[in-house]
Amino acid sequence: MASVQQNIESHPIGVFDSGLGGLTVVRELRRHLPHETIIYFGDIARLPYGIKSKQQIIEFSKQNSDFLAKQGIKALVVACNTSASVSLPALRKSFKLPVIDVIFPAARRAAGLTQAGRIGVIGTTATIQSGAYDRAIRRLAPKVKVFSAACPLFVPLVEEGWTRDGIAEDTVKKYLSPLVRQNIDVLVLGCTHYPMLKGKIQQFVGPRVKIVDSALPTVNFLKDVLHCQGALASPNGKPGALSIFVSDFPRNFIRIGERFLGQKMNSVEVVRLK
Ligand code: DGL
Repeated sequence: MASVQQNIESHPIGVFDSGLGGLTVVRELRRHLPHETIIYFGDIARLPYGIKSKQQIIEFSKQNSDFLAKQGIKALVVACNTSASVSLPALRKSFKLPVIDVIFPAARRAAGLTQAGRIGVIGTTATIQSGAYDRAIRRLAPKVKVFSAACPLFVPLVEEGWTRDGIAEDTVKKYLSPLVRQNIDVLVLGCTHYPMLKGKIQQFVGPRVKIVDSALPTVNFLKDVLHCQGALASPNGKPGALSIFVSDFPRNFIRIGERFLGQKMNSVEVVRLK
């Protein structure tokens, strides 16, 4: 991992996702690293990534990272499992700053939690097909069995704000029944949109199954990396600023975005990337 420059504690942390899902990571960032300045980019115009080709996802991820790198960030958080599952090597090669993903921290948390040695992973089609979670979990705990399922309808449901209706309940049941039959005791939400469906998912899988949401493990990992590099923002009493950039400003954006973020969105700007 490349090291950061000297004296850049006050530089922002860059975070991107294909849409609003990465705001679930920003929410934990604000809670646990309140002095950090954050720049978020949501590539709403090109969402969803989860059904696109590997080459296309890598290209979009590089453009998003480039936009953030130009803002002078000290670390890049790939708050999109789909992007992380295929583009990490390319991003680490192209950007000389710490690149933090959501997959390794969530895999490590899941491997530490399972007692039955049976972990379920759900994600977009691209994430599941990449096998990134299988590899990450097996590297940490070779004896653990991983059962995966792609849940392509979850992202549109969440972006539409339909997380508490019967339609969410039916979709959860349809996708998760095969995993529940495998007697998993840990379920990884391998997509940053899915925490918005956590209530319905927990209700369906039951209390015996522990749910791992990548947001908190990712923030803890980032905190360790910044600490090791002497790049954590110094607590000066003032909360860090949050700037949100998106590639499109659709209907319902503020209402749904604020649900993800758990707070008001004060500054949102549209940028077109090429
Ligand atoms: N939020 C993205 C992820 O974590 C998925 C959304 C998409 O398909 O673009 O995988």
